[in-house]
Amino acid sequence: MLMDNLRVLYTAGQIQERVAGIAAQIDRDFAGQSLIFVGVLKGAAIFLGDLARRVQLDATFDFIAVTSYAKQKQSSGEVRMTKDVEQPLLGANVILVEDILDTGITITYLRKVLLARQPRCLKIAALLDKACRRQVPIQVDYAGFTIADEFVVGYGMDYAEQYRNLPDIRVLPPELI
Ligand code: IMP
Ligand code: MG
Repeated sequence: MLMDNLRVLYTAGQIQERVAGIAAQIDRDFAGQSLIFVGVLKGAAIFLGDLARRVQLDATFDFIAVTSYAKQKQSSGEVRMTKDVEQPLLGANVILVEDILDTGITITYLRKVLLARQPRCLKIAALLDKACRRQVPIQVDYAGFTIADEFVVGYGMDYAEQYRNLPDIRVLPPELI
């Protein structure tokens, strides 16, 4: 199998436990309010699905897509939106959901785009944070795990579209990239 030699960084169980923790934090922060989860396709789809089901508030979800890494490991520094949300964000509590923060360029761009819609508030949730790779400072409101500078796949995250359906998060060794 494709994933046989990949080291597991976080098991499905560890991920679920962390997602439950983040959901509980969101439940407290937005008690009595409704919110919209906006997931960044495709990597955040699975995280958003689990997070949205754990949260006990009135929540809807929507998706946004940006040009991705494709086969490259490095971000080009240029971001372009290829799919917008389908609902107005004016006056809404919005949580932008990302799989992983790397340079911070993508989330900075998306934050600016979404803030222009004048939501009531805009928070950022990211399952993984490669904090050591940051080029643009960003404030993460809900972070799952801080990880080292390693390329990870699984639980929605890909390398050239592969591995997204792995239930756990694994490290892709440099010789495979
Ligand atoms: P940034 O703009 O550099 O922060 O890029 C963030 C995006 O790069 C994430 O949404 C991922 O799609 C992708 N990315 C960064 N690191 C990884 C990784 O280790 N595995 C898979 N995708 C990654
Ligand atoms: Mg992504």
